[in-house]
Amino acid sequence: MTDHPHSPNQSRRPSSGDAHSASDSQLVEVHSHLARDKEEPREGFSLLPIVVVFVFCGFGFWAGLYLTRNAAGFSSSAFDLNAPREVANDGPKAFEPDLAKGEKLYLQQCASCHQANGLGVPGAFPPLAGSPWVQGNEERIIKIALAGIAGEIEVKGNKYNGNMPNIGAGLKDAQLANIISYVRSAWGNHSDPVMDTKVAEVRKAIGSRGQYSPKEILEQHPLETK
Ligand code: HEC
Repeated sequence: MTDHPHSPNQSRRPSSGDAHSASDSQLVEVHSHLARDKEEPREGFSLLPIVVVFVFCGFGFWAGLYLTRNAAGFSSSAFDLNAPREVANDGPKAFEPDLAKGEKLYLQQCASCHQANGLGVPGAFPPLAGSPWVQGNEERIIKIALAGIAGEIEVKGNKYNGNMPNIGAGLKDAQLANIISYVRSAWGNHSDPVMDTKVAEVRKAIGSRGQYSPKEILEQHPLETK
């Protein structure tokens, strides 16, 4: 410690000129030693290494993702196991047959043939109003709408021999469910509405296939009423 250039003892040494200059040169040497390995402070800023920037952004992104997935809507009840699950309502809403939407879509998709009043056109397009094909078992009408139907058919005592394309194939499950629910309850028809999940199920079961013949449909789903 006593040798240290900064030590106060040293400066209080009796100062011959020689001793003084020796301690000065010592000082300079030690300082240059100390200064060698240090960078001089510079003005401005240096860019963070790009890797650090990426890691930081990556972390920010992950954090955002984590929050959107797990924030539970920032609900105060998120950690309360006994709280009513209000959060569940944020998910996709359960399907409810919407007859107004169904009517609108019916007018666009079906009415050109079956007519807005569901009575069809004698000799060309069979009626849906009061038709036993429409009512009762829901799979029958779902299949007809999805794949189409062609061949001789008898509806309410009249014979037709037409060709209905696979209109439903181009519609969403919910859209078709709304149309069919409407058709099954309009013009004096009174059958249960149809759910989108049922349409999806039938769509999957029949796959992509050609039109049904009335005979094939009747084998699978005989009419409940004449
Ligand atoms: C391009 C004209 C056309 C369109 C559009 C059309 N159909 Fe048909 N539909 C027919 C014809 C023709 C038949 C009879 C087929 C036959 O002769 O085998 C038929 C038969 C039916 C039947 C069975 C017979 C009956 O009258 O109950 C149902 C049910 C039916 N269609 C529902 C629909 C629904 C629902 C839509 C709309 C999603 C629709 N159709 C769109 C022409 C059409």
